Amino acid sequence: MVSFLLVLFLEILVQARTARTETTTEFIFQGFKGNQSEIQIGGDSTIKPNGLLRLTDRDSNVAGTAFYHKPVRLLDSNSTVRSFSTCFVFVIIPSSSNNGGFGFTFTLSPTPNRTDADSAQYLGLLNERNDGNPSNHVFAVEFDTVQGFKDGTNRIGNHIGLNFNSLSSDVQEPVAYYNNDGKKEEFQLVSGEPIQVFVDYDGPTKTLNLTVYPTRLGSKPIIPLISRHVPKLSDIVQDEMFVGFTAATGRDQSSAHYVMGWSFSSGGEHPLAAVLDLSELPPPPPNTAKKRSGYNGKVIALIVALSAVISIMLALLLTFMVYKRRLQQEEILEDWEIDHPHRFRYKDLHAATDGFKEDRIIGTGGFGTVFRGSISTSSSDQIAVKKITPNSMQGVREFVAEIESLGRLRHKNLVNLQGWCKHRNDLLLIYDYVPNGSLDSLLYSEPRRSGAVLSWNARFQIAKGIASGLLYLHEEWEQIVIHRDVKPSNVLIDDDMNPRLGDFGLARLYERGSQSHTTVVVGTIGYMAPELTRNGNSSSASDVFAFGVLLLEIVSGRKPTDAGSFFLADWVMELHASGEILGAVDPRLGSGYDGGEAGLALAIGLLCCHPKPGSRPPMKMVLRYLNRDEDVPEIGAENWGYSDSSTRDLGSKFGGYVSSDRASSSYTSSSLTRISSSSFISGR
Ligand SMILES: *[C@@H]1O[C@H](CO)[C@@H](O)[C@H](O)[C@H]1NC(C)=O
Ligand SMILES: *[C@@H]1O[C@H](CO)[C@@H](O)[C@H](O)[C@H]1NC(C)=O
Ligand SMILES: *[C@@H]1O[C@H](CO)[C@@H](O)[C@H](O)[C@H]1NC(C)=O
Ligand SMILES: *[C@@H]1O[C@H](CO)[C@@H](O)[C@H](O)[C@H]1NC(C)=O
Repeated sequence: MVSFLLVLFLEILVQARTARTETTTEFIFQGFKGNQSEIQIGGDSTIKPNGLLRLTDRDSNVAGTAFYHKPVRLLDSNSTVRSFSTCFVFVIIPSSSNNGGFGFTFTLSPTPNRTDADSAQYLGLLNERNDGNPSNHVFAVEFDTVQGFKDGTNRIGNHIGLNFNSLSSDVQEPVAYYNNDGKKEEFQLVSGEPIQVFVDYDGPTKTLNLTVYPTRLGSKPIIPLISRHVPKLSDIVQDEMFVGFTAATGRDQSSAHYVMGWSFSSGGEHPLAAVLDLSELPPPPPNTAKKRSGYNGKVIALIVALSAVISIMLALLLTFMVYKRRLQQEEILEDWEIDHPHRFRYKDLHAATDGFKEDRIIGTGGFGTVFRGSISTSSSDQIAVKKITPNSMQGVREFVAEIESLGRLRHKNLVNLQGWCKHRNDLLLIYDYVPNGSLDSLLYSEPRRSGAVLSWNARFQIAKGIASGLLYLHEEWEQIVIHRDVKPSNVLIDDDMNPRLGDFGLARLYERGSQSHTTVVVGTIGYMAPELTRNGNSSSASDVFAFGVLLLEIVSGRKPTDAGSFFLADWVMELHASGEILGAVDPRLGSGYDGGEAGLALAIGLLCCHPKPGSRPPMKMVLRYLNRDEDVPEIGAENWGYSDSSTRDLGSKFGGYVSSDRASSSYTSSSLTRISSSSFISGR
């Protein structure tokens, strides 16, 4: 009786509660704006002003819950679990792209108050003490984003599980959907993109279907990821259950968990939850995940440190290269270089010659390469830059002192030396640019530019001009300047057919640059006075000798020597001795020359070629002879003396001027190396 009364009382109690619970529940939240009263939140959860339901933020070890405010009637009177259906869209924003956690659940719970639940692997649903306890009466679909939270359990990250009273899943599936071809496509929960979930439970068949897919797919996959018979649900579900979500973050791994929209249906006319209109949902939260590679902190730190070191090294290298490039253009000046008025800056020369481009080369000679350059755009500012690489920079300082004084030389028959520049192992000399090229090319190049031979008048004027230039060097300037390399290729012809001597004094550079105990003789074979090969002493007389050869060359149009036994001065001398000196005149002139002038020039040439330096006239006299201010003295063939058979054979190699004993000894000494190397190259 008592027991009957008790049963009756309980029955009444149940009836009373049942009365309070509606038999059907259907709702849809297209976002949660203004639904604070319909959603019962706990823990870290909040409804954002834009309508997003945020279950947790990315703080460490937090949990949050959100349940529909009214309980749902899930049991029929005959204790079978009613069908229910739910649909929601969620977004998980990890703190960094590979470091999200822990996850969230869709839960059926007897109470919306889960304040006892723990964070991390307990997902805001249970705690260490009640995990697995049958009295929990919780069913959860877990969306776990962390791998192997418990030692010994081989859980995988990024999976969906069906949990009954426990956080150990009975059913577990990696996150995937079936595409239209029935193929399984896995994807990441922790991607920052909206993901839609359908959970449908069919009461009569006790089957639970679950479908999950990124909303970007547009339509729901036909085949559910999970379709399971879940009779266990009967042991869980009580008359009234609260439906909702729980979520949690871990200590090191944390994500913000958002629900964008949610619908639910149970017990009503519509067995399936209402379809969410994605366009009506609040915008998904921005993906503010820090990009991180999948390495742990130490490796990342190492990589960061390494890249920093490499960057610094690259920066240093770059700086060094820029500096080195600067260095190539900027000169580092030695003290003595600074106060010279004729010093040019390398940078300017570099710019003037287009960086010493090949197409700017106008000549290559024994002393170096000549480039045409322009200091400004005006053509009158054209310069010729001679780039010399001396075999030693030792004598350069003294040489520059000389250049400084040579730079003050001014004469209409000299190429004006504008200045100099030392750059590393190069010495650069800057001259006026003379447009017509050298006498060499005018005399010999075929076909010549003019198409005609160089006229007699031009030749005679050129001869006089060269004599005048040499006179200035030897006698008219404040100090004696020996040219040392008078020859046609060093005579430049300007627009007015006026000759200009170039390269004066330059040979000194080589004489000085050599080691002191050897004497280097610099000159060009055929133009070198005989005494030069004996004692190496350049003098104005040796310049006169070279001028004599040049004069004979201008008249005859023949080179001073050939590879054989021919020597111009000897040949002219023979003609002179036989009284036929005019036979030496360039046959290409035909009759187009002044016989008197030609004879005079040849006689002067012979006189200048006298083997004895003392017998050669000084330049002042040469010019007087040329101007007929003075008569040319008679030259006797008996004093000439080149035709000794003893000198002839050996001498042919050196133009017939070297006596046999000197030649053999000097040939083996270093004194002749310069002759044999430099003088075969015709310098400009
Ligand atoms: C959510 O709030 C809006 C505005 O207050 C209301 O119209 C709507 O019915 C609510 N939704 C639910 C499911 O209660
Ligand atoms: C009881 O359960 C069966 C299925 O197990 C169901 O068809 C029936 O409608 C339920 N409800 C009632 C009130 O009997
Ligand atoms: C939730 O449950 C705890 C104990 O489990 C209790 O202390 C707390 O007051 C409850 N909160 C609400 C809102 O019911
Ligand atoms: C569950 O999925 C299976 C297989 O796709 C389907 O036959 C069944 O109707 C589904 N049940 C529910 C309740 O959606």
